[in-house]
Amino acid sequence: MFVSLEGIDGSGKSTQARLLVEALGEGTVAIREPGGTEAAERIRELLADPAVSLQPLAELMLFLAARAEVTERVIRPALEAERHVVADRFSDSSVAYQGAARGLGVGEVIGLCEAATDGLWPDLTLLLRLDPETGLGRAEGDDRFEREGLGLQRAVAEAYEEIAVIASDRVAVIDAAGSVEEVHERVMEAVRERSRD
Ligand code: TMP
Repeated sequence: MFVSLEGIDGSGKSTQARLLVEALGEGTVAIREPGGTEAAERIRELLADPAVSLQPLAELMLFLAARAEVTERVIRPALEAERHVVADRFSDSSVAYQGAARGLGVGEVIGLCEAATDGLWPDLTLLLRLDPETGLGRAEGDDRFEREGLGLQRAVAEAYEEIAVIASDRVAVIDAAGSVEEVHERVMEAVRERSRD
């Protein structure tokens, strides 16, 4: 099964991704986006650097380049070997951040994500829902996106709500308020439910 975790910065998805990987057991492949291959990790550094200014389309293309790499080299081979893959962010991040918040267009970005991944979407996307004020207070990093503050996080949170409606067949909304353990239990319930389908 291919599971992605999505949410605004500070929603706790990286912690939940780690716990989910442990729960799914040995052989589970963990990736974080952007990243997962040598080239993708270098692209991540470039994208996170507050000193580097990028116009929105160039920013999107870099995320897509990193995703094309990790999809072809890591995710597809793992799925073909019948391993679980847990991704800390995937195409929905581009749709929310670049398509909606940066204004490149939701439909356009969905199409470009499909081109970059050859049409691969997660079997299950866990959307960790948290209000943007709380998220920004929790966010630990200081990357280009977090520095942009509440306006960006609000636009992204709104976009995720739209994605949850458009892609309701694969998106499960998880209340990310509460303790790490409580949220993990909600995550596991959603995974069990999808496994039963
Ligand atoms: P992270 O903090 O979850 O590691 O993600 C890095 C930042 O990159 C985060 O602020 C969200 C942003 N991002 C996009 O804007 N578009 C994308 O496609 C991805 C994968 C991440």
